[in-house]
Amino acid sequence: MCHKYPGLSRVDEKGEFRLLFVNENIFNKSVHAKVKCEGCHPDIKKIPHEPAKKVDCLTQCHIIEPSSEKKFSHKDVATFLAGSVHAKTDKDGQPKKFAEDIPTCKDCHENPLYRPLSFFKRVRPGISEIALGRCRVCHKSDEFIYRFYNHVTTRLHKIRNPRNIAETCARCHDNPEIIARHELTTRAVFSYGETFHGKAAHFLSERIPDCLDCHVKPGESVHQMLTNKDPNSITHINNKGTICGNMDCHPNATPQMANYKVHTEFNLEQSPFEYYFQVFFILLTGGTLLPLMGIMFLDLVRRLFPNAAFKRSKKTDEEKT
Ligand code: HEC
Ligand code: HEC
Ligand code: HEC
Ligand code: HEC
Ligand code: HEC
Repeated sequence: MCHKYPGLSRVDEKGEFRLLFVNENIFNKSVHAKVKCEGCHPDIKKIPHEPAKKVDCLTQCHIIEPSSEKKFSHKDVATFLAGSVHAKTDKDGQPKKFAEDIPTCKDCHENPLYRPLSFFKRVRPGISEIALGRCRVCHKSDEFIYRFYNHVTTRLHKIRNPRNIAETCARCHDNPEIIARHELTTRAVFSYGETFHGKAAHFLSERIPDCLDCHVKPGESVHQMLTNKDPNSITHINNKGTICGNMDCHPNATPQMANYKVHTEFNLEQSPFEYYFQVFFILLTGGTLLPLMGIMFLDLVRRLFPNAAFKRSKKTDEEKT
């Protein structure tokens, strides 16, 4: 009744501007369209209401999961997360140092929009009218068809493109303070951006691997990522040989291919060889291109002004007369 008005907003006690408008169109296309407002905001029981409490993503939200017929919640995801490198506690159950740096659900999930997928002829984002036409052969309600088409196809590929995924991780994994506090060795997103993979991601290619393709064991949830020091981790030195040889990537790759340094910053400390290699190529490129361009420029001047000279030579003047 109230939140549909675009201007609905207030300045809170801390002086921060809060937009309270809920865009109906976007909400109805989001993954949570079927959840009622009270499902996530259970403290709102009457209207007008008190300021809302923070939403807890693990609330049971009055939806039934059809295969088990149990009430649905995201508690399983929290269990996955608790066993991963992004857990707030260490292996012995002790709180980790600097636990405030560890991401929570809402740190990584700020955009819960569907990205449905179309298959006909070639894979591309968006709903395919042709596919919908097929569903309509048997199912009679368009609302039903759209809902389930979205539900399934959105999960057959990534919710975000590789660049967006890298940006999500960058907030922490490119933050020098967090890296130092947790004894990590590299600005992981920056160094990813130095490789061909990262450069293609920057140009919005979806065929190259992003963080999740290498850090998540096939068949597991993205919430189960482990540190590369853990022998169960897919990025552990003994296991990482299997990453590149994935069917979608380099099917003929030998395990040695994984020795390629995916997270390398081209500086003197981390990779002196690559650093000098890069310097050599910058000098080579500059040293070849610049003289060449100089010669071409002089050549162009001669072609445009064939008789131009700083000083007229006496001889040619005499010849003319
Ligand atoms: C899937 C869970 C979910 C559903 C369903 C949901 N919300 Fe929210 N809502 C959130 C989250 C998460 C936030 C961010 C603030 C927070 O973390 O508490 C939020 C924030 C808001 C805010 C801004 C609050 C503020 O103080 O800045 C408003 C207003 C709001 N929701 C209204 C609604 C309305 C109206 C509906 C129903 C149409 C709705 N929400 C449905 C999860 C949900
Ligand atoms: C480190 C970042 C991170 C954290 C923390 C995180 N997630 Fe995720 N989550 C992801 C990514 C990345 C995906 C996969 C998105 C994709 O495939 O494009 C995902 C996928 C999901 C999915 C599957 C979505 C779908 O439609 O298939 C659910 C559900 C989910 N997360 C819930 C949660 C909940 C609940 C929490 C908190 C307990 C949480 N996540 C914490 C990064 C995170
Ligand atoms: C050839 C006819 C036919 C086509 C085409 C078809 N369906 Fe179905 N669908 C059925 C039948 C029949 C059932 C019930 C099957 C059962 O109960 O085992 C069903 C069941 C379903 C269900 C499960 C419903 C429930 O409550 O259990 C969903 C979801 C669904 N279809 C979605 C789709 C979508 C989306 C499309 C298009 C991509 C589609 N169907 C195309 C005939 C079809
Ligand atoms: C092509 C595969 C691949 C991609 C893509 C990739 N990683 Fe990695 N990552 C690895 C491997 C393998 C390791 C283990 C260290 C090594 O062998 O270089 C690693 C190590 C790490 C580490 C630990 C480094 C340290 O300081 O100890 C972090 C953090 C990390 N990756 C985050 C990311 C993030 C964030 C992204 C996305 C921007 C990403 N990775 C993309 C394969 C990948
Ligand atoms: C809110 C901050 C935050 C976000 C967002 C975040 N991480 Fe992390 N991540 C951390 C912290 C802190 C650690 C170190 C945990 C520790 O010290 O045990 C870590 C550790 C890791 C490691 C293990 C590094 C190692 O030791 O080998 C990987 C891999 C990783 N994160 C990947 C990702 C990916 C991929 C994303 C994006 C989908 C992401 N993280 C998003 C904070 C974050």
